[in-house]
Amino acid sequence: MFKKLPIPHIRSKKGKLIIGRFFYSEITDITGTPVLVMIGSRIRYNINRLKNMVNGAKIFYSCKANSIPHVLKVISDEKIGIEVVSLFELELALKYFNGDRIILTSPIKQKELLEKAIKSKIKTVASTFSDLELLLTYEEAGLLSAQTDILLRIATSKTSHLGFNLNDDMIQNKLMKYLQMSDSINIIGIHLHSATQIHSLIDEFKMRLNKAINAIDFLSAAGVNIKFVDLGGGLPESMEVPDELLSTLNDLFIKFKDNYPNIELAIEPGRFIVGDAGILLASVLGIEDVNEKIVFLDAGINVLPKFSGGKTHFAIANKLNVRYDSKMTIRGNLPTEIDILKKNYFLPSTTQKGDIMVAFNAGAYTFPLWQRFCTLLPPIVWVYDDKWEIIKEKESTESYLNLFIRDNHERS
Ligand SMILES: Cc1ncc(COP(=O)(O)O)c(C=O)c1O
Repeated sequence: MFKKLPIPHIRSKKGKLIIGRFFYSEITDITGTPVLVMIGSRIRYNINRLKNMVNGAKIFYSCKANSIPHVLKVISDEKIGIEVVSLFELELALKYFNGDRIILTSPIKQKELLEKAIKSKIKTVASTFSDLELLLTYEEAGLLSAQTDILLRIATSKTSHLGFNLNDDMIQNKLMKYLQMSDSINIIGIHLHSATQIHSLIDEFKMRLNKAINAIDFLSAAGVNIKFVDLGGGLPESMEVPDELLSTLNDLFIKFKDNYPNIELAIEPGRFIVGDAGILLASVLGIEDVNEKIVFLDAGINVLPKFSGGKTHFAIANKLNVRYDSKMTIRGNLPTEIDILKKNYFLPSTTQKGDIMVAFNAGAYTFPLWQRFCTLLPPIVWVYDDKWEIIKEKESTESYLNLFIRDNHERS
């Protein structure tokens, strides 16, 4: 039998998958496969789980994890903030959020992005000396207000390209020189982030808090008063994080706030909020029994990218109550040997062509990283309470051609 369904928003009835209130087949009969299904109520649940269990920090959802407009609407309705990294993400966020709920953390900011951020009073993070130089150019041109609040990104390792490594004397000196050159740049906070899908969550956040404390000490010695510390993202998918871990994390934050009562803490989870709210349904195209059993799907690494770093689990949506006792390799149908989704994975020995495979934890860093390659991009479905709807159509050859200025290349 399939071990257990990972989240309560997904159930099994007579061995068949139910998403929200719908049998998976009600969706796939209309959309075909592959299809990405996003469960809105799970996103809301994950936000509230964080709000309740990690109340020592403000939440800024990391837009890059999944920028589907319906996702952003739920995030905005839940009154949390959003973290963006590009002009595209900033413009998108401004449709749903006021400037004061947005934080901009991109590495090097171009003129248009910085201008928009300053105009919209976005919490802007300076991550590089180039960012500070651009701010100084603005100040010279009279474009900065008397006090422009800025956060500094602090590097979490000495090899990081993002942020200022305050353990390096040369960087410390240069940073101070830049800050002294300005009358308007008002450093109010710091920002730290290292990576996504952090395995030793507590150690990682202890490390980030220690770096933050060092930075606060260094900056306060230079007369800079830090009021806001953003500790970044990196939490695994909500279903992978037990309650105890969240409360230990919160204990760290509460302890910090006991020592620094005037400093507000923030985190930027992306994957935690949307990861397990997305499931991908794909068809089994065939099983090849060569040296090993290989299940070919109509979805591969172009829609479940390795780079997404998701903890993907698989099951056969129409065979949930049989034994999962046969080891198989799950792969896509791309013409490359690297199109492997999982090796040695237990599936039912009865898995066959026409079955529907479900991939759990497919909601973060999938859609934003989809690659068409030699296929057409799948549709997206939104499930909420007693409704489901297609929110992005499946691509067709025609819609693909319409991405281009149409010319007269076609055969007459
Ligand atoms: C600056 C920043 N904040 C937040 C995140 C979100 O990370 P995650 O989705 O792992 O929580 C990222 C992504 O790597 C990031 O670069």
